[in-house]
Amino acid sequence: MILSGKAKLAGVIGWPVSHSKSPRLHGFWLNKYDIDGTYVPLAIEPENFDEAVHGLKLAGFKGANVTVPHKEAAIKLADVVTDRALKIGAANTLVFQSDGSILADNTDGYGFYENLIQGAPNWKADAGPAVVLGAGGAARAIIVALAEAGVPEIRLTNRTRLRADKLANELDAPITVVEWSEREEALAGCNLLTNTTTLGMTGQNLLEIDLFDMPKAALVNDIVYAPLMTNLLEKAHAHGCDVVDGIGMLLHQARPGFNAWFGTDPVVDQELRDFVLAD
Ligand code: ATR
Repeated sequence: MILSGKAKLAGVIGWPVSHSKSPRLHGFWLNKYDIDGTYVPLAIEPENFDEAVHGLKLAGFKGANVTVPHKEAAIKLADVVTDRALKIGAANTLVFQSDGSILADNTDGYGFYENLIQGAPNWKADAGPAVVLGAGGAARAIIVALAEAGVPEIRLTNRTRLRADKLANELDAPITVVEWSEREEALAGCNLLTNTTTLGMTGQNLLEIDLFDMPKAALVNDIVYAPLMTNLLEKAHAHGCDVVDGIGMLLHQARPGFNAWFGTDPVVDQELRDFVLAD
């Protein structure tokens, strides 16, 4: 890729950042749409975050993605924060706007939802309760997205109950907290099951859950994408449920940033999935 003097610049800020798939993902789109621009990994230590962001802005960057451990700092630093980022309390996308202000957005919940409806177009958010496993940062974004999409009841269960209670108190969403030991009973009558924990990820413990009580019409999703077919998705498929894997959440959450910085709403398709997974 040969850049001109007018090339548009963006990147991903993290510490560490070497594991990030975002440069590969955005690089694929830049190439596909033949855009005069680049997207680079930016390893920035927490104490240098604010200074680095202002430096990128001064250097003419269009913005950046923000990953661990900077997601909360990104909200504090921004001049303008979107409603969804405020609700989630963390940002993953910064846009340096033409008036000089810094906009912070959180597109994780958007990416989650877009992935669900692309993978299961007939699934209806308002058709029944959703069971959410886990109460970390990903769960927070997902719950906000589910509530916004009209899910009537969110059964939230987490190993550490206190974290689930905290989310239920903090979020304006129809959450019922369920004990981790009662997660299987919570599946009765549900319309969606989503795993936001790290269980099932390569190198982690498997997710132990019996799907006996779950309707076969329910949709099952895992945000873990390594492996792509987690033990939960395999079990759900064998049970007769439709399943949506987790890689699409990563791909779709990147779209709003790409559009804001480079001026094109990019497509998430099989070619992109294969390319990002081949890494
Ligand atoms: P993120 O912000 O990316 O969601 P996180 O905050 O580390 O990540 O959350 C990881 C989730 O996986 C949590 O819900 C965690 O449960 P705890 O709150 O009890 O820690 C869950 N998790 C991780 N290992 C687990 C295990 N062995 N059994 C059950 N839940 C587990």
